[in-house]
Amino acid sequence: MNVNSQFANSTHKPKNFNNSERFIEGWYWVIPSRNLSIGEVKPVNILGRELAIYRGKDRKVVTVDAYCPHMGAHLAEGQVDGNELRCLFHHWKFDTQGICVDIPCLDEPLPIKLKTWPTAEKYGMIWVWTGEYPQQPLPFIPELEHKDCDVIFGPRLVMNCHPNVVGINAIDAQHFNTVHQLLSEITFEKEELNQNAIIFRNITYSGKDSFLIKLIRPFYKNPITYNICYWYGSIGIVTLNFDSLYIHVMFAMRLLEGGKTEAQTVAIIRKRKGFFGWLHNRVLLWLTKIVGKDFIKADIKIFQTIQFDLKTPIKADISIMQFINHLEKQKPLMWKTWKFARSPDAEKKEKREKWRDELSND
Ligand code: FES
Ligand SMILES: [Fe+2]
Repeated sequence: MNVNSQFANSTHKPKNFNNSERFIEGWYWVIPSRNLSIGEVKPVNILGRELAIYRGKDRKVVTVDAYCPHMGAHLAEGQVDGNELRCLFHHWKFDTQGICVDIPCLDEPLPIKLKTWPTAEKYGMIWVWTGEYPQQPLPFIPELEHKDCDVIFGPRLVMNCHPNVVGINAIDAQHFNTVHQLLSEITFEKEELNQNAIIFRNITYSGKDSFLIKLIRPFYKNPITYNICYWYGSIGIVTLNFDSLYIHVMFAMRLLEGGKTEAQTVAIIRKRKGFFGWLHNRVLLWLTKIVGKDFIKADIKIFQTIQFDLKTPIKADISIMQFINHLEKQKPLMWKTWKFARSPDAEKKEKREKWRDELSND
């Protein structure tokens, strides 16, 4: 069958994929955990929304909407008081649920609530869920579940295209050879873990000795396995396996204004005991960081100028098509408001029905 006609419908104007006004409801990275100490409060802007995050005395991180419900002062100017946050302006105080617990000039606080967002920490990062209640666990690496791990932060990058476009690079079969001169042939198999997570797996044999292959050749006998797990289309966790050794590299991305990408790379490995275990992990993580940096360098050039438009898909692009289809089934939110993004058609229908209801009520 002609591949172009086979994919023509599925590529027809995706609503979520590469949409600069939308992102998928999910867990998103905020800042590295080590950048927020106990008693500290910081301003952060994530996916267009202004927030304040702080770490209370109990070490837990709390994320709240930035502007005080009294008069709009930025709460990151305020002060952490035990596990609560006090606004700098008139000293109103809010607890971890956002409930106002003290207004100094009143005997009783008012029944008001500051918006809070579910927050957690994993792999050395602070994460926030962009909806009311988390519908999914934090992005996880199956091989590392319930195990301690060592992490190293790689570069933080800003790229001139959408996180979805950056993300699909890892399943763009052709480019491994053309851009990275790495793998002569690669075919992925997909497995949808849940509504928000999809894995693409491959066993790769390299035909050529690239820089990366030369570097790792002494360390493995069996073919390297490679897989990537995507969460919400914005977080990609690459797992490389050489014999019994697993290395994971996370590309945690967020959509910036105008369809750009802010990415933090993190290399992750299972913790090993003792000094030599520590040293072993440090060397591996450091190597991964160096190789990863070199690997991404070639892609970055493309990300800075691409105007993504998959007009002519071929069979080698099938994983990209599968990624797009997977993304289209997820719950889209609007950048900045974090409100559910209805399609214009659905909105029109809703209005029409409301109008009909009003008529029949008369
Ligand atoms: S603006 Fe925050 S207490 Fe008044
Ligand atoms: Fe690449």
